[in-house]
Amino acid sequence: MRILILCHAFNSLTQRLYLDLVGCGHELSLEFDIADSVSEEAVALFEPELIVATYLRRAIPESIWRHRPCLVVHPGVVGDRGPAALDWAIQEGEETHWGVTVLQAEAELDAGPVWASREFPLRPGAKSSLYRHEVTEAASGALLEAIARYAAGEAPTPLARAAGSGRARPLLRQEQRAIDWQRETTATVLRKLRAADGSPGLADSLFGEPCQLYDPWPESDLAERWRGAQAGQLIARRETALLRKTVDGAVWIGHVKRRAGVKLPACLAFAAESAVLPELPLADWWAVPGTWQDIAYTEQGEVGTLRFEFYNGAMGTEQCARLRAALAWARQRPIRVLLLAGGDEFWSNGIHLNLIEAADSPADESWRNIEAIDDLAAALIDNDRQLTIATLGGNAGAGGVFLARAADLVWARAGVVLNPHYKNMGNLYGSEYWTYSLPARVGLVGAAAIMQGRLPMSSQQAQACGLIDCCIDTPRAEFAEEVQRRALQLAQDDWAARIEAKRARRSIDEATKPLAQYRAEELTQMRRNFYGFDPSYHVARYHFVHKTPQAWTPRHLARHRDLGWGMPP
Ligand code: COA
Repeated sequence: MRILILCHAFNSLTQRLYLDLVGCGHELSLEFDIADSVSEEAVALFEPELIVATYLRRAIPESIWRHRPCLVVHPGVVGDRGPAALDWAIQEGEETHWGVTVLQAEAELDAGPVWASREFPLRPGAKSSLYRHEVTEAASGALLEAIARYAAGEAPTPLARAAGSGRARPLLRQEQRAIDWQRETTATVLRKLRAADGSPGLADSLFGEPCQLYDPWPESDLAERWRGAQAGQLIARRETALLRKTVDGAVWIGHVKRRAGVKLPACLAFAAESAVLPELPLADWWAVPGTWQDIAYTEQGEVGTLRFEFYNGAMGTEQCARLRAALAWARQRPIRVLLLAGGDEFWSNGIHLNLIEAADSPADESWRNIEAIDDLAAALIDNDRQLTIATLGGNAGAGGVFLARAADLVWARAGVVLNPHYKNMGNLYGSEYWTYSLPARVGLVGAAAIMQGRLPMSSQQAQACGLIDCCIDTPRAEFAEEVQRRALQLAQDDWAARIEAKRARRSIDEATKPLAQYRAEELTQMRRNFYGFDPSYHVARYHFVHKTPQAWTPRHLARHRDLGWGMPP
C-alpha cells in the first residue's frame, strides 16, 4: 500500500513505525507537518492510499482528512483526548494501565472512530521512557492491526461504541505541575518530575534561580545526617547530579535547564553554585541500588556487566573519561565476558551536543569530546583479555552505534532502532573508528550506502546486513536475562578459541593498517567539520539542541519530492 507519514519530527516513535511499515512491504514517503499547504502538496504529489499521523502537534487539515483516510496514532487509552495524555496519567498516578489508540482523523481532535488499540501496565517511569518503550511497542502493534483491518475493507468503530475508559483532558500547565516541597512526599515529587520529562520539564528554582528540572532519580538512603535539612533544600552532589531534600526523603535531580540556557547535567548548569555542596561519592563502580549512579558494574560467574545510564545517550568528555576508567577497572576483573549494557533508554547517541553547545568554544569542546569517545572505542578494540559484547536494549545513534561496533560482538533487542550514520548532523564525517569497523562488517559498498542513506535501521535489518551480530527477539523485561544466559554460555563454550582468534585478527589488522592511522584519518575530516570554513555542523547542532522547528523535510525522507517521482521507469 502507498502510505504517507505525516509527523512533526522524525522522532523515535515515527522511526520505529516507519521501519515496521517498510518491513511489511508498504511504499512509504514522509512529510513534516510544517504548514497546511506543504502537507496538501505532499498528498497531491504522492497520492497515498492511506495517511498515517505518527506524532503531530496540531490537527490534520480538513482539506486532507475529508478526501483521504488518515490514521492518527494517539498515546492514550480509547476515549482519551487532548495533548497531554501521558503527562496526566503519570502525574495523577491513579491509572494502573495506559494505552495507545489508532483512530481516524475527523473534525474533533482525537474523537474519530477507532481502528485499533493496545494497553500496557503503567510502570513508574519518566514520560520519555514510557513513550520510547511501552507506547512505541503498543503503537507498533495497534498500527499494523489498523492497517490490516483497513486493507481487509473493515470499518472503524465509532468512539461512542468503542468502550474506552479515557476522557478529554486539557494541556497540563506548569501551575498544575508545580511541586510544593514543604508538603509533598517523595512519591508525589517523583511522579510530577517524571510526568514532565524529557519535555517540557518542571518549572522550579535552584539556588534562587528559576529553571526547569529533569531526570529525577530516587534516593533510598534516608540518612540521619539529613534530618535537620529543610524540605526543598539542596543537600549534596554526586558527579553531575544534585540531591534535594523532600519532606520524607530525598531525590536526585540529574538535569536542569536555566533560563535562556540548554538542558545540561545539573552540576554543570550550576557549576559555581553546586561546588560548595558536599560531594557524596560512591566507593567504586559496583552497582549500588536505590541511588544516583550513572556507571554501575555487576558480575555473575565469569560475566561482568557495565551499565552506563547517560541521560539521552549523550556522552560528554568527562563521562567518556569516567567510563574508560570503569572499563580499565573491569578489564582487571576475573571474568571472561564483559557486557556493555548502555542505559535503559539509549545505548549511546555519541558526543554530547548540549555540552558542546554550552561550551565557550564549541569547536574545542567537540574536539575534546571526539578524542574522549575515540579513546573509549580504542580501549574496547584493544581489550584482548575479555570477549566484549555491546548489548543494546535501547536505541543508539551516530557515534553511539560505532562505539558499540568497537566491541567484539553487538547484540540488540528486536524493536531497537539504530541510526548508524553521522551526516544528519551537518554532514559530520564521524569517528569512533567507523572506517575500521564498518567496512569489515558490511563491505565498502555497504558502508557507503549506510552512511549516505541516513536512514534508521531496525535490529533485524542491522543483523541481515552484518552491522550487528545478533538480534534478540525477546520482550524488553526479559532482554537482560536472555543476554546473561547467552553470555554465560559463551564464557563456557568456545571462549578460548574466540579470544585467540581476536588476538590474531587484531595483529593482522594492525600490521595491515595501524588503528592509529584510521583515527588520524577520521580526525582530519572531523577537524574540518569543527574548525573548517563550512559551518554546517555548528549550524545543525545549534538547531538540534535548540529544537528549532523543521523548515523542510529532508529529501531522503520525502520521496515524493524526488525529481521524476511518479514518472514511469
Ligand atoms: N547530545 C545531546 N543530546 C542528545 C544527543 C546528543 N548526542 N542525542 C540525542 N539527544 C537528546 C535530544 O536533544 C532529546 O532531548 P530532549 O530530552 O530535550 O527531548 C533527547 O536526546 C531524545 O532525542 P530525540 O532526537 O528526541 O530522540 P529520537 O530517539 O527521536 O532520535 C537520534 C534519536 C539519535 C536519531 C537523534 O537524537 C539524533 O540525531 N541525535 C544526535 C546524534 C548525533 O549526531 N550525535 C553526534 C555525532 S556522534
